[in-house]
Amino acid sequence: MRPLIATIDLAAIRHNYAVAKRCAPGRQAFAVVKANAYGHGVREVVTALSDQADGFAVACLEEAAEVRALHGEARILLLEGCFEAAEYQLAAQLGLDLVLHNEQQLAQLLGTSLSRPLNTWLKMDSGMHRLGLDEAALRACHSRLQGAAQVAEVNLISHFACADERGHEVTEQQLEAFLDVLDLDFAQRSLANSAAILTIPAAHMDWLRPGIMLYGASPFAELGAAELGLVPAMTLTAQLIACRDVAVGESVGYGCSWRAERPSRIGTVSCGYADGYPRHAPSGTPLLVRGQRVPLVGRVSMDMLAVDLSDLPAARMGDEVQLWGAQLPVDEVARAAGTIGYELLSKVTPRVPRRYCNA
Ligand SMILES: Cc1ncc(COP(=O)(O)O)c(C=O)c1O
Repeated sequence: MRPLIATIDLAAIRHNYAVAKRCAPGRQAFAVVKANAYGHGVREVVTALSDQADGFAVACLEEAAEVRALHGEARILLLEGCFEAAEYQLAAQLGLDLVLHNEQQLAQLLGTSLSRPLNTWLKMDSGMHRLGLDEAALRACHSRLQGAAQVAEVNLISHFACADERGHEVTEQQLEAFLDVLDLDFAQRSLANSAAILTIPAAHMDWLRPGIMLYGASPFAELGAAELGLVPAMTLTAQLIACRDVAVGESVGYGCSWRAERPSRIGTVSCGYADGYPRHAPSGTPLLVRGQRVPLVGRVSMDMLAVDLSDLPAARMGDEVQLWGAQLPVDEVARAAGTIGYELLSKVTPRVPRRYCNA
């Protein structure tokens, strides 16, 4: 068997969910499990949280149906709402909480006769300018939903653009815009992603929406997950499948992009970009062998990459290599590769087997 595995610690996810809830006593929280639970496996994550989570949030109806099959009662929030008219009836059958982010969605909902009324979440564009209604449109939509046969609760939701940069002025403006429409009658309100859960109590409202923090990564560039009390959920482990000595001036890998400046010991690792390891990770990106950081060298290949073991003479073929995880924060690898932990975690490809522990 190819020595590459993503070990998922389900107890860590339960712990991280509890951290989110502790930040905002008395509030409820949708565990954000879109994109296959950020790469961790939606079936296992929903099952692990099934007694603990107040609800789940997903990006589309297909994901919602998967969660509903695992959990008969949980509230399931469809973060982008329906994409076409035919989906409203399915959403009703699944008993979803539905985001409405534009007037077309509203008209489609009100034009459908549903098997049961749905909880709706009017999405406000409070400043991110990705999805949502401006204040005037939101007020108009709010009155159209009142008393409609298709509608159970009318709720309010918005999303921060810069909550991960502490003290950002846009966050303050977004919070004010949100508060400005609270003269309207909403049953529930939701604003906080992980960054806001961890640092902006005024944004907690009624329902939190923790995503990245559940998986034990940090939403902040300058603050690590461990400092936030989070435990990494995914450890990606490969093996040294070859070792060789290269002389000064010799190159390693495609394009000969890295050349030895000293006599070097090079290890070949059983993980590449077809597994989700970022191809653009530069030489110097850290990996862990025998508890010690070693640098990536040369270009990442489809199934393999190379590390410089010169400063770790004890390393041997067959040694485990941690790409990220329990001892090497995914955020550290992401920073070196010019990306974010979200991308690395959610892009681990299906060919990497997941092994679950602490179920
Ligand atoms: C609308 C919405 N809410 C919540 C989240 C969770 O955000 P985070 O993973 O930063 O906690 C996301 C993720 O992208 C989102 O799109």
